[in-house]
Amino acid sequence: MEKQSIAIFVSNDEVPVNGDAIYPFKQNSDLFWLSGITQEDSMVILFPDNPDPKFREVLVLVRPNELKEKWDGKRLRVAEAKAISGMQTIVWLDSLDGLLQPMIHLAETIYLDSNENDRKSSLVRSRDYRYIDEMRSRYPLHQYRRAASIMKDLRAVKTAEEVEVLQQAIDITENTFRRLLKFIKPGVMEYEIEAEIFHSFLSQRATGEAYGSIIASGDRARTLHYVSNNAECKDGELILMDFGAEYGGYCADLTRTVPVNGKFTRRQKTVYNSCLHLHNYAKSILKPGITILDYTDKVGEEATQQFLKIGLLRKNEVKNEDPENRAYRKYLYHGISHHLGIDVHDLGTRTAPIKAGMVFTVEPGIYIEEEQMGIRIENNLWITKNGNKDLMKNIPMTVEEIESLMKK
Ligand code: GLY
Ligand code: MN
Ligand code: MN
Repeated sequence: MEKQSIAIFVSNDEVPVNGDAIYPFKQNSDLFWLSGITQEDSMVILFPDNPDPKFREVLVLVRPNELKEKWDGKRLRVAEAKAISGMQTIVWLDSLDGLLQPMIHLAETIYLDSNENDRKSSLVRSRDYRYIDEMRSRYPLHQYRRAASIMKDLRAVKTAEEVEVLQQAIDITENTFRRLLKFIKPGVMEYEIEAEIFHSFLSQRATGEAYGSIIASGDRARTLHYVSNNAECKDGELILMDFGAEYGGYCADLTRTVPVNGKFTRRQKTVYNSCLHLHNYAKSILKPGITILDYTDKVGEEATQQFLKIGLLRKNEVKNEDPENRAYRKYLYHGISHHLGIDVHDLGTRTAPIKAGMVFTVEPGIYIEEEQMGIRIENNLWITKNGNKDLMKNIPMTVEEIESLMKK
């Protein structure tokens, strides 16, 4: 942060469904990363140069209200909030105004947060944006800065403690996948598999799914964000399952594709092994120094060779390809990796060289309309000084492992 500046982070909104119902509350990821606080209507205020040390870090919480607590349950008390956040100054939201005004007058620059995910397309005016409007209109002569660009860099590099929590989310996901291998058979419905996932996650103390599980048998596997999960899994088809537990606020993101009847056909095995080859190739080059853009190009090159080999592309299609829309993209039409953390598509750079400590997915896929088939294999990796550590290395992945576990 610049000298004499203050940063203010606000909670997410409680989002209405219909009538008096609201969606389960989800904390703003930056506020959670800074404080560990999951309660609604909270704020974090950071003012490192404040002459009064007491007000260099402030956590703002809603004042517990006995009547409201009869309906909605206990809210944090001061001692609990201090223990969770490590912040020593707790202020109730209803008395914030009188405190904030003099702090703002001491500061030259105000950092406010916004959602800088490149794929954000929502037009809903969320609380962080409304707060920016409010502050700019109340204090028009201050300088304003983007907190998100700082948070993006801070959150992208994970500490060992964060990875330990993520590993727990991954282990829960692994146990769940092993359970599914015994459950899947012809005739089972996709939503029955989803129900197994929920049961397994919650009974292992996960907070829930990290994102809506994609349980896609047969041709539905070509739909990248298929979440209807309402078809019957048929003999002879493959089933693609993209799911992950959320634990301690961190998201696992696994994809495995298995034969519904427990045995790959020859063709399925050929395409699967081609995808596995791409997965292993991608893993071998995901190291500090490379950018996600260059890495994606390299994996695209390898995919081109693979797709020639398994008869998806012809040489002249590759020779005459449009460099802006390469031939391989007909069968692999998404990115290979994204940052992973508190958000499943975590914030982070795609254009700057990657650094040790970052966590990425590796998730090549092959989607063939002519054969009504979709395969994706996705693991989660922690970037080390010289390479990476596969946090999902124990989760069965080869044809032989999967067939042998499904036979049992
Ligand atoms: N589950 C979403 C993804 O793999 O990116
Ligand atoms: Mn996924
Ligand atoms: Mn992913």
